[in-house]
Amino acid sequence: MGLKGALLILVVATAGSVFYLQSSNKQPYEWPRNGYFGPGHPKQDDTTIRPFKINVSEEEIKELKRRLQTARIGHEQLENVSDFTFGFNKKTLLQFRDYWLNKYDWRKAEAQLNAFPQFTTQIEGVKVHFLHVKPPANKYKTVIPLLLAHGWPGNVYEFYKIIPLLTDPNNKLKPTIPSTVAFEVIAPSIPGYGWSEAGHKSGLNQIATARIFKKLVVERLGHDKFIAQGGDWGSAIVGNIGRMYPEHVYGIHMNSVFFMGNVKGNLLLLAGTIVPKLVYANREFDNFSFKTLFLEIIKESGYMHIQATKPDTIGVGLNDSPLGLMAYIIEKFSTWTNAGYRNLPDGGLLNRFTQDELLTIVSIYWFNQNILQSQRYYREFFADQGVQDFSGSYLKAPTGYASPPHDLGERIPPEVAKTMANVTHFTLLQEGGHFTAFEVPVPLANDIFNFAAKVAPVGVPPSKAKKGSEL
Ligand SMILES: *[C@@H]1O[C@H](CO)[C@@H](O)[C@H](O)[C@H]1NC(C)=O
Ligand SMILES: *[C@@H]1O[C@H](CO)[C@@H](O)[C@H](O)[C@H]1NC(C)=O
Ligand SMILES: *[C@@H]1O[C@H](CO)[C@@H](O)[C@H](O)[C@H]1NC(C)=O
Ligand SMILES: *[C@@H]1O[C@H](CO)[C@@H](O)[C@H](O)[C@H]1NC(C)=O
Repeated sequence: MGLKGALLILVVATAGSVFYLQSSNKQPYEWPRNGYFGPGHPKQDDTTIRPFKINVSEEEIKELKRRLQTARIGHEQLENVSDFTFGFNKKTLLQFRDYWLNKYDWRKAEAQLNAFPQFTTQIEGVKVHFLHVKPPANKYKTVIPLLLAHGWPGNVYEFYKIIPLLTDPNNKLKPTIPSTVAFEVIAPSIPGYGWSEAGHKSGLNQIATARIFKKLVVERLGHDKFIAQGGDWGSAIVGNIGRMYPEHVYGIHMNSVFFMGNVKGNLLLLAGTIVPKLVYANREFDNFSFKTLFLEIIKESGYMHIQATKPDTIGVGLNDSPLGLMAYIIEKFSTWTNAGYRNLPDGGLLNRFTQDELLTIVSIYWFNQNILQSQRYYREFFADQGVQDFSGSYLKAPTGYASPPHDLGERIPPEVAKTMANVTHFTLLQEGGHFTAFEVPVPLANDIFNFAAKVAPVGVPPSKAKKGSEL
């Protein structure tokens, strides 16, 4: 590590500490106990739970193809750049356009999406869409409710491979846990993502989402206690559920953590860069570098600054051009899956995903026309100091962290993660990146079962779902 690196680390650590000390002098943040994000004046929610099926019209599919056909591409690939270091490579762009236009079958994706039971209900004035998948009747003695929270630029489609492993583990997976346990999965679309309605007023942030998801699981579906799991924004949401409603959770499980820069964590990261053997118990972290983490995040987070400031500007063009939307979203599935993929001609996109899978993620944004609304979620977070402080405050609920080796930036060492949350279960996954459930569903599912075995003892009370509901 050079002098510049050490200085950079010191500056970051100091800035983080000053920021923390300032915010820790403030009054504790009082999170709002209720909210209303529907149009106009607050109205009572229609609490009905309605079955839901996705059904995009033929006209919309034709219109997408027309736009792909007439897409305007005005640049040449640089002669001596053949990878993703400048962004989406043109050769790969043309391949994906051709596939989306001529081979991709939305109806097939739609049927796959509709294979799981879906519902909508109204909470805090907005329509909330969710998957609700139960284990086969009478097959498992213990059924634990599990909330799965997605992030950006994803949606509930990320969970399609992991859900059957969670709801029926004996079916697909060599069981490493008592076969009497299975999960009842509730996977909502964040308001403004997928088929959930966007807020009509600002403020629908990671605290409001935690409150809305808790209302869904506890008040609408009648589960008093559950496990909440998430990555990306999903990890901020489930962390906040643990901070706000500890009495309703057995525990919180994450596959990515936001390190918000607390004093102790920063000092550990700094010391760990200089003398890893004294700081980190696991030799895996001997080469851990705060500088690499910081620089990698700077390289990959330009999008974040735009979305945290002017989402309603960037979102206009993305909603108008399927190809622009595709490049913007799918590029993230390259580097966030493995930073090394930046140096591959095709961004390594097909190493871990199929074209169909990636285009289904994009098509969901396209047909719902909500990329802009999904981007506002960054502004809601970064423009609100209270939300940031609260979401970075110590999480007391028992927390499981399954850390994939190729997450955005570097893996956060357990010693550092423990400054942020009561990490009672920590797993170094052998493979996987930021979209962990989508990429490596089996090891992640296994880890959720192992975590549940620690926090949710056998014999949890059955669901108190209201009589007469369709669930
Ligand atoms: C979708 O809508 C069309 C036209 O309204 C209808 O014919 C078709 O059966 C619907 N498909 C599904 C899966 O609901
Ligand atoms: C591309 O070629 C130019 C001109 O020779 C050179 O200055 C530049 O560094 C090269 N870029 C890469 C990535 O090789
Ligand atoms: C750390 O880096 C050294 C030198 O590059 C390498 O030999 C070693 O395998 C690395 N250790 C780990 C745990 O990755
Ligand atoms: C962490 O969770 C465990 C299990 O619920 C609890 O016993 C312990 O007190 C918690 N620790 C902290 C620091 O909150």
